[in-house]
Amino acid sequence: MLTTPDHPNLRTHDHPLISHKLRILRDAETSPQTFRRVLGEVAGLMTYEALRDLPTTRCTVRTPIAECPAVRLAAPITIVPILRAGLGMTDGILDLVPEARVGHIGVQRDESTKRPVEYYEKLPPDVAEGPVLVVDPMLATGGSGAHAVRYLKDRGCHQIRFLCLVAAPEGVRRMQEAHPDVIVHAAALDDRLDERAYIVPGLGDAGDRVFGTL
Ligand code: PRP
Ligand code: URA
Repeated sequence: MLTTPDHPNLRTHDHPLISHKLRILRDAETSPQTFRRVLGEVAGLMTYEALRDLPTTRCTVRTPIAECPAVRLAAPITIVPILRAGLGMTDGILDLVPEARVGHIGVQRDESTKRPVEYYEKLPPDVAEGPVLVVDPMLATGGSGAHAVRYLKDRGCHQIRFLCLVAAPEGVRRMQEAHPDVIVHAAALDDRLDERAYIVPGLGDAGDRVFGTL
């Protein structure tokens, strides 16, 4: 896991398996079927690292032989995919943390203004009691991500992490300015945004690639 002096809130995950799978996701020839499977796999690998500092409490467990010290997760964790593309990461994360709850936030970027437009939400009523992992493959301008985090903070959440696949410097800066307490986990920090605010080199429109709506 790498840190970058220019982006104190960014953690880049350069494990060879993550980088290998990211290449498959970037490839314009990759089919939606393969894209979905690999996106879930990368999300799982990244979650393992992103949740490394998850709070735990001490307890005991009785084995068939004796009682011994153990730990358990201190509070219920909630995964919050930003619809649509974040859904493509959710199953891979649930494979690792099956006890997690899943809240949904629907945010769509208005392609003319580039501003986020919210259209759906459904969260566990006690979402604020535990850590929240917001997931979306793309952090471009950062508008959608920052909006989703604001929404969760307004509902009392204070242990928020953001997990994406590809981040643009513009999006990382926006998250840092709006939410300096939120660590952004990414598989790669890309070069820039183009004139349509797509990430370069990026991987194209993540939602379209997950759901085959190209
Ligand atoms: C994409 C992506 C992010 C957002 C990133 O979603 O999945 O949510 O754009 O851009 P931003 O950082 O500039 O806000 P999109 O709005 O295309 O919706 P979709 O997932 O339904 O395709
Ligand atoms: N949304 C995407 O899906 N991809 C980008 O590169 C930018 C926004």
